[in-house]
Amino acid sequence: MAFALKELFPDQDFRFQLTLRRSDAREFFRLRNPAALAERRRWLDSDCTPYVAATRDAGPLVEQMETLAAAWNVPLSSEPPTTDVRSRLIRLGRAFEPDILLLQPASSGEFILKAGVVCFPSWWALAEKIGLPLDVIHGAVPRLNASIGAGISSFLTKLKPGLAYERSNWGIAATPELNLHPSLSRPRLRPPLDPEKTWIRIEDQILSRMPDGESLLFGIDLRIIPLGQALDDPAIRKGFHRAMLTLPADLADYKGLTLVLPELLRLSAG
Ligand code: HEM
Repeated sequence: MAFALKELFPDQDFRFQLTLRRSDAREFFRLRNPAALAERRRWLDSDCTPYVAATRDAGPLVEQMETLAAAWNVPLSSEPPTTDVRSRLIRLGRAFEPDILLLQPASSGEFILKAGVVCFPSWWALAEKIGLPLDVIHGAVPRLNASIGAGISSFLTKLKPGLAYERSNWGIAATPELNLHPSLSRPRLRPPLDPEKTWIRIEDQILSRMPDGESLLFGIDLRIIPLGQALDDPAIRKGFHRAMLTLPADLADYKGLTLVLPELLRLSAG
């Protein structure tokens, strides 16, 4: 079950959370929001270049995702079979509601991002991450590797086949749009802040071993919640306020919050 907002904004100082909850990959990838799937298809049908990427050797991983789709009774379009990995990723992206990322361990044990179909990124570009190890990908996030990098890598290495775990990230956005690819230059938060035009953006994520017993399936699904509505709950308000109060300056900057932090603090006070 997805994390409640109250759990994502606990009454404690900000820190990166490595809180993971047992989950079910088939259930996570089940269609829950047909409108999101329809929108994903629209992005993939327009110019799919920003949303699909794979390394040269990603074919077997994509094939495993196709095997999972068949096992979960998720229908893939019946286009003629193709060996082109990008076309096969688009076909997968047109069938699943969440974003899909496929990783494989190198001989060093590091997990490398090999393939993905990501239509709803939170201000990052798949093309810049493909082929990179996870700690390099996470290098864009201030303090993350130093604080939970080792924990992430140990969790991923020990993850047992057949098991899946869920976690969530939060962000705050000036738009309820799902697709925040940097090339779209969506608006960022600026003063004066209107709580009716500000949204909490929750990325629900699943981590699961692929059928080969070593690769990883990482799925991302979004929840977009109006800030004003979230802050109506006193417990969330309190936790949110404390997170804003204790968010390190470099992280506030990474999350695009620096200019509006005083207003976020005022809105969530008391
Ligand atoms: C237990 C596993 C993981 C944890 C705890 C974790 C945690 C995080 C956190 C806290 C952020 C910053 C989000 C924010 O504050 O806005 C982040 C960003 C990100 N993570 Fe992870 N993550 C995990 C696994 C993964 C995996 C498997 C991938 C697959 C490639 C991934 C890709 C990313 C990307 C692309 C970003 C955005 C980086 C950017 O802005 O350039 N993460 N992650």
